[in-house]
Amino acid sequence: MAKICVVGAGNMGAGIAQRCSQSGFSVSMVDIKDEFVKKGFDSIRRTLEDGVKRGKIKPEQVDAVINNINGTIDLAAAAADADIVIEAVFEDIEVKKKLFADLDKACKPEAILATNTSSLSVNEMAAVTARPAKFAGLHFFYPAAINQLIEVIPGDKTAPETVSKLVDTARLLQKLPIVVKDAPGFAVNRYFVPFLNEACKMLDEGVADMATIEEAAKKTLQIGMGPFELMNATGVVIAYHAQESLHKALGTFYQPAASLKKQLESGQKWKVEGSPDPAKFDEVGERFLGMLFCIALHLVEEGVATKEAVERGATVGLRWKSGPFAMMNEIGIERSLDIVKKYAAASYLKIPEILVSQAASKKPWSLRSVQVSKEGFVGVITIDRPEALNALNSKVLGDLNHAISTVAADESVKVVMVTGEGSAFVAGADIKEMISKTPMEARTFTQLGQSVFKRLEDMDKAVIAAVNGYALGGGLELALSCDMIVAAENARLGLPEVTLGIHPGFGGTQRLPRQIGKSKAKELIFTGGMVDGKEAERIGLVNKAVPREKLYDEVRKLADKIAAVGPLAVKMAKSAVNKGTEVDLVSGLAYEIETVSLCFSTEDKQEGMTAFIEKRKPQFKGR
Ligand code: CAA
Repeated sequence: MAKICVVGAGNMGAGIAQRCSQSGFSVSMVDIKDEFVKKGFDSIRRTLEDGVKRGKIKPEQVDAVINNINGTIDLAAAAADADIVIEAVFEDIEVKKKLFADLDKACKPEAILATNTSSLSVNEMAAVTARPAKFAGLHFFYPAAINQLIEVIPGDKTAPETVSKLVDTARLLQKLPIVVKDAPGFAVNRYFVPFLNEACKMLDEGVADMATIEEAAKKTLQIGMGPFELMNATGVVIAYHAQESLHKALGTFYQPAASLKKQLESGQKWKVEGSPDPAKFDEVGERFLGMLFCIALHLVEEGVATKEAVERGATVGLRWKSGPFAMMNEIGIERSLDIVKKYAAASYLKIPEILVSQAASKKPWSLRSVQVSKEGFVGVITIDRPEALNALNSKVLGDLNHAISTVAADESVKVVMVTGEGSAFVAGADIKEMISKTPMEARTFTQLGQSVFKRLEDMDKAVIAAVNGYALGGGLELALSCDMIVAAENARLGLPEVTLGIHPGFGGTQRLPRQIGKSKAKELIFTGGMVDGKEAERIGLVNKAVPREKLYDEVRKLADKIAAVGPLAVKMAKSAVNKGTEVDLVSGLAYEIETVSLCFSTEDKQEGMTAFIEKRKPQFKGR
């Protein structure tokens, strides 16, 4: 596991160090005084002991997690052998710049430097180092040891490999990463902090009293704590400074409300008292929604974050029941446009064009549960429904179908990786959706699954499944439709359908015997049992099992090797192998003659053979 050095042992730093240690990284926690380091350890111990009380952590883990953290005030020594340094000192750009200049000198050249800033410019900090390609934001959310959200924020010069490494690391920390642009407030604080400020603005304008605003916010957003209670819990001072930093970067709309400033100066908490006035809930609620929708839409228009990332920020980072786009869908897009227009007019904000056109289409926002990204020539398809262990319902299958079309059409994608967000690859078809299906509906659903997986199998690029966790039922069947499977050693693979009174329907009864032989396949299918990655490798179910932390690098290495050879040759070889397993040997051999002959008509063949004779590396063009 990589070595992580956390600089700053305050609330955030200690939480980050704890999370890193709990996830098995070797960790240093640095501060400028021993007493600060000690405070950090005290806070970690308190959080862990609280976890023991709540049954989330075993008692013996407390000391193990703490002992795995090296607390120190020697920054240079702690940073020297770190693979990743995460800065979590207070929000002062000059302090951070000085620190990063020092870290740049102290760290080994390949180390990644990351800032946990919630409001300052990543680019500005990267600029003081000689390694802007290895610099990025890694914004944890409070409480850092528990909250699953992480914003990964590349600067203008951050290398794609650095982003991939940080996303991989976030996943090893059992987090759900969203990649967002270096823009003020990134994807969450840009609307969350103004949400607090909006409550204060309404107070100033006399729209309603504090109790009414508080209650209206809770009802509208379906949250447990309203803006004033939230500020009391996290600090009025933090709300003010975060708002002021948005104000400085983005202008008048973001100016802190007068009452927020006054409350800061009083040094007091808000006193939420009195009875709320339900007659004003709609008016206050609409104000919150208008502001929230406007900013969320601006974030997407400005390319700061995708709709899905904004949603995850709200539901995972803030633990809201729905994010702004799901809320707009619930309220109705045309009604949402009316709310936004009213709000934008009163606050001199631009009406987001994307909402105007969405309303014209009369369709709800489509929020994809399968993401497509690119790492150089590798197209990455990520099943992104972690709250249900990526279970495949009709929507996910539809989104997967769309993702397959996207990577298939992208000529720069040479190899495709399929993986799952969160702790699972895919835990099967969605049982909650299937339970009420009639036999005819089940037939249609099964046909859908089979046809989507067949498209993956038939894609004329190499497809590698990176099995990061549970690959059960439809999940294993998805992996079996890929050309190769690399699994984490601790992944769990199986076809447990018989335990539900059905049998595999997305190709499991056909592809598994072809992969591991009839008898072993029957054993797995009839018992519904699971095997781990290592056993899966032993029985030939997966190509290779590797420690979880090496999974994506292993797949990238395999992809590199495939991308270095002739793409047309790979495409035709894939077709020959696939066809050969469907027909008898004589027909397969006949088909092989056709595909190999076709190879002889390509420029790639000419280049490959000429390069061999000239003793140089071939330059394949896929022609
Ligand atoms: N369908 C729907 N929801 C699922 C799901 C599935 N296949 N697998 C997990 N989930 C949901 C759970 O219901 C739960 O949601 P709630 O929080 O709303 O309750 C959430 O994901 C987390 O799951 P668990 O709490 O169960 O997590 P766990 O760590 O305790 O257990 C597990 C993990 C062993 C994988 C367990 O979730 C499980 O057994 N899942 C079902 C696996 C299965 O039977 N797959 C085959 C499906 S049938 C199929 O795939 C047919 C086919 O061939 C096409």
